[in-house]
Amino acid sequence: MVDAKVGGKLYWGGEYAVVEAGHTAVIMAVKRYLQVKLKFSSGHGNIRSSLYHHHLIWSYQNGKLHIAHQDEYSLIIKAIGVMSEYLTEQGKELTVFDLDIDSDLHDSAFQKYGFGSSGAVVVAVVRGMLRLYELADEDLLVFKLACLILLKIGNNGSMGDVASCTYGGLIAYTSFDRHQILEWLEKKSISQIIDTEWKYLSIRPLKNCLPVEPVIGWTGREAISSELVYKISLGRNHPEYSQFLQNSETHVQSLIQAIETGNKGRFKQAIAALRQGLIHLSIICRTQIETEELRQMSDLADDYDAVGKLSGAGGGDCGIIFLFDHAKKEELIQELEKRKIQYLAFI
Ligand code: PMV
Ligand code: MG
Repeated sequence: MVDAKVGGKLYWGGEYAVVEAGHTAVIMAVKRYLQVKLKFSSGHGNIRSSLYHHHLIWSYQNGKLHIAHQDEYSLIIKAIGVMSEYLTEQGKELTVFDLDIDSDLHDSAFQKYGFGSSGAVVVAVVRGMLRLYELADEDLLVFKLACLILLKIGNNGSMGDVASCTYGGLIAYTSFDRHQILEWLEKKSISQIIDTEWKYLSIRPLKNCLPVEPVIGWTGREAISSELVYKISLGRNHPEYSQFLQNSETHVQSLIQAIETGNKGRFKQAIAALRQGLIHLSIICRTQIETEELRQMSDLADDYDAVGKLSGAGGGDCGIIFLFDHAKKEELIQELEKRKIQYLAFI
């Protein structure tokens, strides 16, 4: 039996810009997990998930997955299908297996916080299958395989969530050129795509030298990132859009420097500038990102030794207040709660 465990994620900065190739985001892993267990079986395999009531029976027929189709499991089926193709390319003989998925990221309350879950499922299945077949599960390999699976199902995100749950900790993620990879998917094998360098891609763990405590506040409103990313993408031709991208990159690089050198003033400036950038983006794309609750949360930070902004796609979900004066935490949480914003202790 092998297992694999991956965590949730929260963006610190660089949202939306990172959807465009070559732009950077800072993303933190959250301590809630999704875990998979795999073991070879004979005849047929069972897939069970804490998410769904029923389980799925599957097998291979002539090297292809044979499953009575189940929409709920479609992402997992796609992941196993692409991984089976990759394993065959690697000279492995395919054998059915049992897969158990247990997710704290999906529990009824948790999913709506927006800590990510589809990326996490795919990363866990990829890592689990590499381990089951005794292949090295290097992070970059896991990341690339998970991205190929998600690109094949038309995911429109930056894959920052995938990078975060593959690498864990705090990372700087620069997105790759998805159009190049989509083109390659038409004509190259999975192994060839994996072995080629992906334009712009960079994932770098960051050492946080600041005594900062990210206080997560949940607005109580669920947001769907893919819809917001689509709406914002409709504003790409606006004359000020490229300026947004350029500014975001400048402030994210400044944020990274501040984190690594422990420069509090610079950190606060960078977060505040990233917040303003998203507000401006929201105006030019005519789509609300910083909701009233997220605005209140970010403004509240100014009364403390802190700085705040939304985290992720906005439109609801969570915001983060980056707090430096730890003695003020309880008071801050009370103030958040007065505004009906729920503190989440998941770091
Ligand atoms: O709301 P989240 O945590 O899914 O983050 C979305 C971040 C975006 O930059 C808006 C989209 C993306 O895929 O990077
Ligand atoms: Mg979100």
